[in-house]
Amino acid sequence: AFDAADATEIIHELRGLEGPLLPILHAFQARFGQIGEEAVRLISAALNLSRAEVHGVVSFYHDFRKEPHGRHVLKVCRAEACQSMGSDAIADTIERSLGIKFGETSADGQVTLEAVYCLGLCAAAPSAMLDGRLVARLSQAKVEALVEEVRL
Ligand code: FES
Repeated sequence: AFDAADATEIIHELRGLEGPLLPILHAFQARFGQIGEEAVRLISAALNLSRAEVHGVVSFYHDFRKEPHGRHVLKVCRAEACQSMGSDAIADTIERSLGIKFGETSADGQVTLEAVYCLGLCAAAPSAMLDGRLVARLSQAKVEALVEEVRL
């Protein structure tokens, strides 16, 4: 969880760098798993930037999250090779089964659904990744199993 003392220490360590904003954001992301309002406030004050500027950078880079991840992270490949193998229909089913859209986390905090663009598994498309584990040749049956798994 976010800790203001840790945050201040990170800022203190990195603010002397040339172009300190990105290194600080990366450090916050790694340490706290998210970059929330409080973090943005501290960073903007320390670096003499407006909050809007910091928000702009946070939103621009998809690695930075404004909210914490769910317990599980399900990434579904939405790039071309997977699309040609029916990933759009699979993606729709996943959104419907989980009741969330891509980029969202379920209200119970169980799962975050993310789109990715190629997992290097094009030969076994459509593909996905659950908590770092690759899942190839997604079928409706495999989707059901994944959805079961993230509910746990
Ligand atoms: Fe989906 Fe390459 S396009 S894994």
